[in-house]
This record gives sequence, C-alpha cells and structure tokens, in this order.
Amino acid sequence: MVSRKTASSKSRNAANVPAIPLHVVILAAGQGTRMRSGLPKVLHSIAGTPMLGHVLRCAAQLGAEKCHIVVGHGAAQIRQWAAKHSADMVFAEQKQQLGTAHAVLQAMPNIPDEAQVLILYGDVPLIESGTLKELLAEAGAKLGVLTADADDPAGYGRILRHRSGSVQAIVEEKDASPDQRKISEINTGVMCAPASLLRNWLQQVRKDNAKAEYYLTDIVALAAKDRIGTVAVMAASLAEVSGVNDRAQLAEQERVFQRRQASELMRLGTSLSDPARLDVRGSLLCGQDVHLDVGVVIEGEVELGDNVYVGPYTLLRNAKIGSDTRIESHCVVDDAIVGRGCRIGPFARLRPQARLANEVHVGNFVEIKKSSLGDGAKANHLAYIGDATVGSKVNIGAGVITCNYDGANKHQTVIGDGAFIGTDTQLIAPVTIGPGAYIAAGSSIARDAPPDQLTICRARDQRAFKGWKRPEKK
Ligand code: UD1
Ligand code: CA
Repeated sequence: MVSRKTASSKSRNAANVPAIPLHVVILAAGQGTRMRSGLPKVLHSIAGTPMLGHVLRCAAQLGAEKCHIVVGHGAAQIRQWAAKHSADMVFAEQKQQLGTAHAVLQAMPNIPDEAQVLILYGDVPLIESGTLKELLAEAGAKLGVLTADADDPAGYGRILRHRSGSVQAIVEEKDASPDQRKISEINTGVMCAPASLLRNWLQQVRKDNAKAEYYLTDIVALAAKDRIGTVAVMAASLAEVSGVNDRAQLAEQERVFQRRQASELMRLGTSLSDPARLDVRGSLLCGQDVHLDVGVVIEGEVELGDNVYVGPYTLLRNAKIGSDTRIESHCVVDDAIVGRGCRIGPFARLRPQARLANEVHVGNFVEIKKSSLGDGAKANHLAYIGDATVGSKVNIGAGVITCNYDGANKHQTVIGDGAFIGTDTQLIAPVTIGPGAYIAAGSSIARDAPPDQLTICRARDQRAFKGWKRPEKK
C-alpha cells in the first residue's frame, strides 16, 4: 500500500454503509498441489502478505459484516495464522473437496437469510474492491457473476449468453462443446446473491457432470429456472481475477501487484528510477519529491519526508526518514528513525532502535544498534555503535568500536556533545566520554574520560630493529 503524506489525510468512510449486511465467503479448502509446499496455498505471500490477507483486506474495504472462510487442506495452519494476526473471520470446515458449490454450502449455516453473499477465493489475491462494489450494485437482488475476457480461455468456465445478451448458463471446460470452448468470456468464479436464494440453489446442485463435482456454476441455470436473472459484470483485466496455482503464477501476480503500487506512487508524485525495480511489501507513505532509485525494497511501515532520496539496492524496514535526507546505495535501515538532512551510506546498517537526529552523517560499513546520535554527529567509516548515547556534533573516527558486550551483559556508552573519538578507539562499556573530550587514536578506553581534555591510552613499548630483513620466499 502506498500513499502520499499530506497535512490532513483523515479517512472518510461511514457514509456508504450498505443497508443489507454483506457476508463474504472465501474458498480456501483446495490442496494447492502444484505449489509443492508444506504451507497451505492461501498463506503464500504477495508483497509480504499472505494471499488470504489481501482478500480479507478487500472484504474489509467493502464493509463486510462477516468473512466466512471455507477451509480443508491445511486448516490448522490457516486458523493459526488468523489467530496470530487477530484476523476476524468465521471458519467453515469442508472435510472433503466435493466441489465449489459444496464448499459454499459449508458456510451457509452461519449466514442469515437477509444477508447479501459475495463469494471470493483465497488464491485470487489481486481482486479490487472497486470492481466488487460495481458487481454488488449491478446485481442487486439478482445473481451476479464477475466475468473477464481471456485471450486464452482454456481451463475456465465459459459464459453462455442468450441472443438478447442475458446470461443463460456457465459451462465448464470439460463439459463444453467445441463451439462453446471458443467463447472468450470466462467465469472468474466470483459471484454474489441474496443468501436465501443462494441457499436454495446450492441445495439443488447435483454432480452429474464430467468431474462428478458439485459445481457452483450450476446456480446460474437454477436462477434462470426460478426466473431470476443473472447479471454479468466484466472485470477490467484478467490479471485482477487470476488465480494462483503454482509458484510461477505467484511470481506473476507479485509483479502485477508491485506495478500497481509503483503506478500509484508515481501518480502521487514520487519519482521512481524504474517502476519495475521497486518492491513495497507493506505500507509506504511519501512526502513531496521523494526519489527512489532501482532495487529499493520497502518492508513493514515506512514513512519518507519531503525530498528524500533512497539509493540503489537499499532495504528500508519499519523506518521513518526525515525530509532532505539522502540514503545512498546498499544500506539496511531496520526499525530506525532518521531525522532531517542526514546522509546515510553507502553500505551503512541501521539496526533496531537506532535514532538519528538531524544532519547526522553515517558512512560506509558503519553499524548502529539501539543508540541515539545527536544533531550533526558523524560516523563516516567502519564503526560499530551499540547501546550508546552520542551527543550532538560528536565525531567518531574510522574503526571506532563500542565494546558493549562482556560476553554476558550489554553495557552503555555515553559520549558528550562535541567529543572527538580518534580512529581505531575501543570504548569499553560501561564508559562515559565527557563533552568536548578528545580521545587519541588507537586508545582502549576502559575508564571515564573527562570533558575538554585529551585522553590517550597506548602501549609505550614501540621498538624498531636495525638491520632487520624481510623473510624471503624459499
Ligand atoms: C472454477 C469455476 C470455473 C471458473 C474457475 C476460475 C466451478 C465449477 N468452476 O473452476 O467456472 O472459470 O473456477 O478460476 O466453480 N475449492 C474448495 N472446495 C472445493 C473445490 C474448490 O474450497 O471442494 C476452492 C479451491 O481451493 C479453489 C477454488 O475453490 O481456490 C476453485 O476451485 P477449482 O477446483 O480450482 O475450480 P476450477 O476448476 O478452476
Ligand atoms: Ca588497536
């Protein structure tokens, strides 16, 4: 999910609460054999969220009163996921997969007659609420079917229409005549109907077909028999309604989803060096004139201020970056907050609870964990700063290490404002460096250093050997 940062971005809803309670049934009982996975198919992720999570989010956007999920294979794992993510849904168990009509029937005991039912699929993750709103509105009290136009309709059920254009029936590929197979309008599987009618039709479905299954698609003919029309709404693209059966299709849908997000970002005013080389696996909120270079990966919740630049192949996870900050290539920023006007990287790693104030410079091969750096602090090369409080305008030289771990416990390092820590210094925590202190290069500092003084610590024994010769290769 991508969005634009604005002064007042309060969401408005409540206005279009449907009068008839909407119950969404999500089919997810199939085995997903072609995934060749120990994980139930619907728990495989698109952009870091299980496909089922995407479908649930879409249902929430429709203002669904309840989501019913029909589970069979991998039911325990799906229940576990739902519990862990406090996803609100009602489970219906389909012990044997006897067909799509049979699957929907398992959810019906939990659905009141006055409800409107919408049938979705746990393995069709890119379905959009806008399309479904249109379907629900068009169908009204009739049977609604979402269709699509397919260049290659093989494998899908085909939509049969009367001469007048009204929908007559759906015929499955295996049951279709050669002429019917030439029809390019296909059944996406998504349907909606008033609960009372649907219940009645589902009970009448028989399995006298090529697969000996209870076909959900048979309800179209049953509706016609009851003189209740079927309304077909065509989806804008086949990609939106495509199911995932194997890992190749999962990867395809991932790309479709990422392109969608990239387009939305650009529409909102963010520059992308290449919209095909950005991955947003979570939510990204951007200010004005943000530029994301190639290969940027966003995970969790990320917020970027105005004029932020993110360089090639940088990972930002649960991060907040202030305005005018540049993050160069190959950085990892994980659970960190960075202020305004900072320069990070290339090749820097900000680990959890790194807190950088404004105008901070962090250069190559610098690792910062659970530490705060004050305004204008600099650590430009090869340093480890862990469990430290670093004041403003502190200069941390190349190769400085906070020795925060004694093998059992972590200890704090405190560095006062304006201190200068010479290159290759070890700060053996717990230790405090006073404000304005100057630590000579190569010192191992194990005791507190006073403010505004030079502290130097080194072995005095430096010897040179006259007449020494380099060893020679034998
Ligand atoms: C179904 C439709 C077909 C449509 C296609 C779209 C029927 C009879 N046919 O065919 O018209 O073009 O989807 O992809 O509905 N499932 C269960 N329990 C079952 C059977 C299926 O939960 O007993 C779930 C599966 O996990 C899957 C979905 O329903 O997610 C579709 O089932 P599948 O057997 O793949 O239907 P298709 O043959 O593809
Ligand atoms: Ca040394």
